[in-house]
Amino acid sequence: MANIAQYREIFIKYLEEKIVLNEPKNLYEPIVYILQLGGKRLRPVLTLMTAEIFGTTHKKALDAALAVEVFHNFSLVHDDIMDEAPLRRGKTTVHEKWDLNTGILSGDAMLILAYQLFENYEGETFKALAELFSKTAIEVCEGQQYDVDFEVRNDVTIPEYLKMIEYKTAVLVGAAMKMGAIIAKTSAKDAEGIYDFGRYLGLAFQLQDDYLDAYGDPKTFGKQVGGDIIENKKTYLYLKALQNSSETNKEKLMQLFTEKPEDATEKIETVKTIFNEANVPETMKNAISEFTMKAFQVLETLNIKDQEKQSLIAFGKQLMNRTV
Ligand code: IPE
Ligand code: IPE
Ligand code: MG
Ligand code: MG
Ligand code: MG
Repeated sequence: MANIAQYREIFIKYLEEKIVLNEPKNLYEPIVYILQLGGKRLRPVLTLMTAEIFGTTHKKALDAALAVEVFHNFSLVHDDIMDEAPLRRGKTTVHEKWDLNTGILSGDAMLILAYQLFENYEGETFKALAELFSKTAIEVCEGQQYDVDFEVRNDVTIPEYLKMIEYKTAVLVGAAMKMGAIIAKTSAKDAEGIYDFGRYLGLAFQLQDDYLDAYGDPKTFGKQVGGDIIENKKTYLYLKALQNSSETNKEKLMQLFTEKPEDATEKIETVKTIFNEANVPETMKNAISEFTMKAFQVLETLNIKDQEKQSLIAFGKQLMNRTV
């Protein structure tokens, strides 16, 4: 088995071979742009790793890995439109660099390209991959809709929030791993187990994403810090702050999350002060670690070598401590 950096390198090489600039340029340029902007390549690396953990070569998993990454990037292009985000991976977002229509259509094309990549698999494997992908993709849409619906609601609960992030983020991490298992033709039990591992890791991952959105270092984070606060996103930070604030702060916070001021500097600062007073950073760290531990517990049920469990644990720990 290769290490994470090696899998990433192998994947990027494959991506650069397969994703090339076709005509019309205005459709393909944004696709090449977003896919070559970098990013952590977390999901495709997991697909390749899982395929090898379950006993096949990563080469067989390259098309599925690419499908997952292309789908992920499609979801980011459309997400940045929905979230009115100016920055992605330290660069201008597609809809700002080009325009809204370009973002919509190149996103659509990426979704189709992702599907098309599964055509490289035969028979049962194709069917299982396509089924998993369709189920996952529709859940991501559902999660994204909840995320947007919650912006204008003031009664979102933590279970609702957890379901939202499970759909918008966690299921794709689970699916990325289950695809590796499907390609390796592993047992149904192990395929479900690795899906659950990815799902828990994905929940921890989105909690960390929410945390970094408010507390990340603007120099290295690559996205607009405070973007979720600007958009009145009902993140775990916000929900926990409501639970653990004085009545005065609670009212102030709820009021601020109905507003969208032209200049959000002061709003972001006030909200973060309220978060800090409610001990939210500490609460976040604990929740992230809790979900990561849940993922690790699932590993105990899997029929894989101890060394491979250790690689997955190392991966999970790396994610927990990430700053981008
Ligand atoms: C961002 O995903 C969207 C979320 C689901 C939080 P990543 O943080 O994996 O983005 P890149 O691909 O590394 O840029
Ligand atoms: C994104 O959630 C989830 C999907 C793209 C499906 P976010 O809106 O939090 O992702 P970022 O922070 O913009 O990367
Ligand atoms: Mg976003
Ligand atoms: Mg979003
Ligand atoms: Mg985010």
